[in-house]
Amino acid sequence: MCITEVKQNSNHNNNGDGVVKSNANCNNGTVHDAFISLDRGDPKMYYMYWKNVDDKCSVTIKASDLMSYFADHDEGGVFYQLPEFSKAVHRIHNVVGNAVTKGRYIIGGTGSSQLFTVTLAALASRINSCNQIKNKRRIPVVCAQPYYSCYEEALEEEKSEIYQWRGDANKFNEEGPYIEVVTTPNNPDGRLREAVVKKKGGVVICDLAYYWPQYTPITAPADYDVMLFTLSKATGHAGSRVGWAIVKDKEIALRMIKLMSLVTIGTCHEGQLRATTILDFVSDNYEQHLPNGKLVVEHQEGFFEFSHRVLAERWKRLRAVVNRCGIFKLPDYSPEICTFMNKSTPPNPAYAWMELKTGEDAEKVMNKLKIRTRAGPRFGVSSKYVRVSMMESDETFNQFLERLSTLQD
Ligand SMILES: Cc1ncc(COP(=O)(O)O)c(C=O)c1O
Repeated sequence: MCITEVKQNSNHNNNGDGVVKSNANCNNGTVHDAFISLDRGDPKMYYMYWKNVDDKCSVTIKASDLMSYFADHDEGGVFYQLPEFSKAVHRIHNVVGNAVTKGRYIIGGTGSSQLFTVTLAALASRINSCNQIKNKRRIPVVCAQPYYSCYEEALEEEKSEIYQWRGDANKFNEEGPYIEVVTTPNNPDGRLREAVVKKKGGVVICDLAYYWPQYTPITAPADYDVMLFTLSKATGHAGSRVGWAIVKDKEIALRMIKLMSLVTIGTCHEGQLRATTILDFVSDNYEQHLPNGKLVVEHQEGFFEFSHRVLAERWKRLRAVVNRCGIFKLPDYSPEICTFMNKSTPPNPAYAWMELKTGEDAEKVMNKLKIRTRAGPRFGVSSKYVRVSMMESDETFNQFLERLSTLQD
């Protein structure tokens, strides 16, 4: 058998692998010389769950449906937002207990990536409009390292005139307004986090992409001024490009909605409808089985138990291989009571944050094994670290462990 890498993705025809198996033409090499990619956070592991659901959770859109720019019945005044989408977001957070949504504005976006820059722009313009003209400046944006690589990359590329990437929050020591991004659990290292700067004039954006029970115990509903979530990591539907912000302050919310209107005249209604159907399917499953808001363990495996089980098994297998090889180190995580699962569970982060014990370049070691990873410097830290996605397809994850096992201390 040989495996040939094809252009990324096409879940509908290749089991969500991003690789196509072919017995016929081996010109592109054997399984051992094709690179496997674990450098992106592409949530392919969820394909197995949704494949079994398929027709039970589909969306039909007729030619005459969703034609207007407007869907302005949403109570929060988001002119482009389907009211059922906002309702589904409130509902899933109520079911899971991972965020306060009551009395908050729900603002949908094209993935949380779009909402991240829209939130920065809204916060920075508000800060500047509150200050004297002479004090106007590019508002520093910081995040404790290791930080999600795309924050820095997006901001450096954008070169905004009202905000500016300033790197590691631990090294930030200026007076005046600033924006701190708190990613919890953190990408890449899975740690729970809080703001570190804590100075007067600071505002926090909390990126909660991974605050779902499959990745970390849910200990309390998150309650920050601005919170970002994404369907990509909640249910694995990254291709729908749906994210949402939960915003406390009316003025910030209105600025965000205005920016969404100026940049893209809102977001795609088809995506919102798909997200609504998926989120409601997950909520239905638990609301039917949770008489007191608690998870009943006997019931048929639902979405979060499936994904929790897959990630927990993968972490167990990865730790066994890493311990046997003795070359890499993995972070340790303590179990906590998950209010959703109603039991004590250890975190199972979406990424393995692997440290090469010798302190040398970890990406080089992985490249020799034909494993594509994301190197530490992209997260603002040493090259002795690499980030490996734990959300790849079974096939890619198994190949990863096989290749890693060939390493000897
Ligand atoms: C911490 C974090 N925030 C945001 C995103 C972006 O998600 P989306 O697919 O909604 O743009 C990612 C994607 O990997 C992420 O890891």
